[in-house]
Order: sequence, then structure tokens, then C-alpha cells
Amino acid sequence: MTKTKESTASFPTTRLRRLRQHPKLRDLVREHTLTANDFVLPLFIKSGNNIKNHIDAMPGNYQWSVDRIEEVLDRVVELKIPAVMLFGLPANKDEIGSDALHENGVIQQATRRAKQLHPDLLIMADLCLCEYTAHGHCGVVEKKSDGHFEIHNDKTLALLTEQAISLVKVGADVIAPSGMMDGVVTALRHGLDAAGYSHISILNYSVKYASAFYGPFREAADGAPQFGDRSTYQMDMPNAREALREAALDVEEGVDMLMVKPAGHYLDIIYRVKQQFPEIPLAAYQVSGEFSMIKAAAEKGWVNEEKVMLESLLAIKRAGADFIITYYALDAAQLIGSKDGKA
Ligand code: PBG
Repeated sequence: MTKTKESTASFPTTRLRRLRQHPKLRDLVREHTLTANDFVLPLFIKSGNNIKNHIDAMPGNYQWSVDRIEEVLDRVVELKIPAVMLFGLPANKDEIGSDALHENGVIQQATRRAKQLHPDLLIMADLCLCEYTAHGHCGVVEKKSDGHFEIHNDKTLALLTEQAISLVKVGADVIAPSGMMDGVVTALRHGLDAAGYSHISILNYSVKYASAFYGPFREAADGAPQFGDRSTYQMDMPNAREALREAALDVEEGVDMLMVKPAGHYLDIIYRVKQQFPEIPLAAYQVSGEFSMIKAAAEKGWVNEEKVMLESLLAIKRAGADFIITYYALDAAQLIGSKDGKA
């Protein structure tokens, strides 16, 4: 299309402030919006009965026992949020995270209950061993003779595949491996297909950085590593090109949806991944530290929580995310609903 003289005209003919003069005009020309369909709410499910423990480091979030999840799931459905992402706090932890694989493990029970209560609600299961292992690492730990330890990639893949099948059996719709093991998509796809679950999709935490922003989550999920850190498997945060290699491998392995995590300080990564793989749905995870920092500043009265919340979420969409996993899902959906769907 040839450009008309008018469209390339500069000041004083062109004045970009014109389209900002009327709120309805701003509504019409807005490039990105949020709806409840953009959100996934992470939930922490704790073994036991009658538990609704407030997570102090993440105000407004709770650890729930299975018998209490109805309260929060009803709210999710009422606000038309399409999905929840489940994290488990089992009764017992051991070296290989046995509870993660058990048919009556805490997430298996929660998934069954959620499907019974709301068959149409999408259940995404976070797939990782760190909440179930005594050492708190995301995989099988092998001690070396020199005193070092290694997170054994391929042994971990076998356990994750078992965990995935046990979760799908009880009704999980989407499997979301968060442990940054190489080849996890291939392993899960083969395992799920062989078990008759070729219709189940994989949302890989494809580009997950070793980030200090996970701090509050580790209190919430009781999953901090007991020794060392996660830097031999999660990505090194100064690296951006490597993110594209992670995403490319997942695409080759047949991933259904990609994810970048954290989100707010990684908008450049979200943008790059979306530019490189525009056809693959992309999730972004606004992690616990991002959420809690806004909460803390708002509690001090230093920022307007509603506005900063919506700004942080819209920025993630503007960067290229198709949907956002966020602890603000309920608040944001409620606010957007009350504003007639416009945020
Ligand atoms: C477990 C997992 C973590 C998060 C999601 N899944 C913690 C970690 O990797 O240490 C972090 C989520 C958050 O901070 O909100 N592998």
C-alpha cells in the first residue's frame, strides 16, 4: 500500500495528542486489553483437613486443603477465569518425591475434587518434584564422590512422566513441567501418548530463569532447596539469546504452549520469544515476588494497587504474552468485570 501524504505528515499537521482527548476515543484505539480469559490462578493445595492458611508473604493467597477448595474454585468460576494451576504441599517428603506420583497424592485428590465441583474448569498441573522432595530440588539428586551433587536429568524425566500420567488419570487437562529438565517435552509427549493421552497438552516452563523473585513462593509451597541453588538447571538471568534456543527445542519437541517466567522484568524475553514463534501460544508467569512487591508498596500507600496491578498485567500482554499466570487473577478479573470488560 502506498502511503498517502497525510499519513506521513508531521507536526503541525499530525498531532498525536488528538486521539487522546476523549476517553471513548482512547477506548476505541486501544491496542491491548485484558479480560478474565487472560488469566490463570495458581493455587497451593496442602495435605490435611479444614486448612485455609493465609500466606503472609503473598497477601490474599492461601494454602488450601482439598476439603476447602470449593470456596476459591467457586470464585474462579464466578469471575470466568478459565484455569487454575495447582501446586502441592504433601504430608510427607522423601528423596524422590513419592507423594507426587501417588494416586492419592495431594494434587491428585485436588484435581479429582475440582473436576467434580466444576467439570468445565481447566486444571493445569504444575509438574515438578521440588515440593515433594526432602532436599527441595526439582529432580533426582545424586551425590558425587567429591562431595558435589548433581540433579540427574534423565532419571528425573522418568519420574516426571509417571507424575504426569497419574495427574492426567485423575482429570488434569494441561501438564506444566516447571523443572527445566532437558528433553522434558519429548519424554512427556511419548509417555502421555503411550498411555493413551495424546489429547492432553503440554505447557512447558520453557524459559524459566533462576530468579530471586521466587522468594515468597518458596514460603508458600515450602519448596526451597535445602542445599545449593537451582542455577544448574534454571536459566542464567543475563542470557537472552539462550531463551530462543530453549523455546526452539521445545517447539521441535512438539510443545503445545511456551512459557516465560518471571514476566515483569523479562518483557524483552517475552517479546523475543513471541517474535520468533508467533504461531505458538505463549504464557507468562507473573511470579510471587512481582506480586508481593506491588502488594507491599500498596499497603504502604506508595502506589495505587489497582492501577499498578492492571499496568503490570497489560505490560506483559503488550510484550506478547497470550495469557498470564498471576496471583492477581481474582482481583484483576473482578476489577475488569466491574468496568464492563475494559481495562
Ligand atoms: C517449582 C516452581 C517455582 C515456581 C513455580 N514452580 C519455584 C522455583 O522454581 O523455585 C515459582 C513461582 C512463583 O514464584 O510464583 N519448580
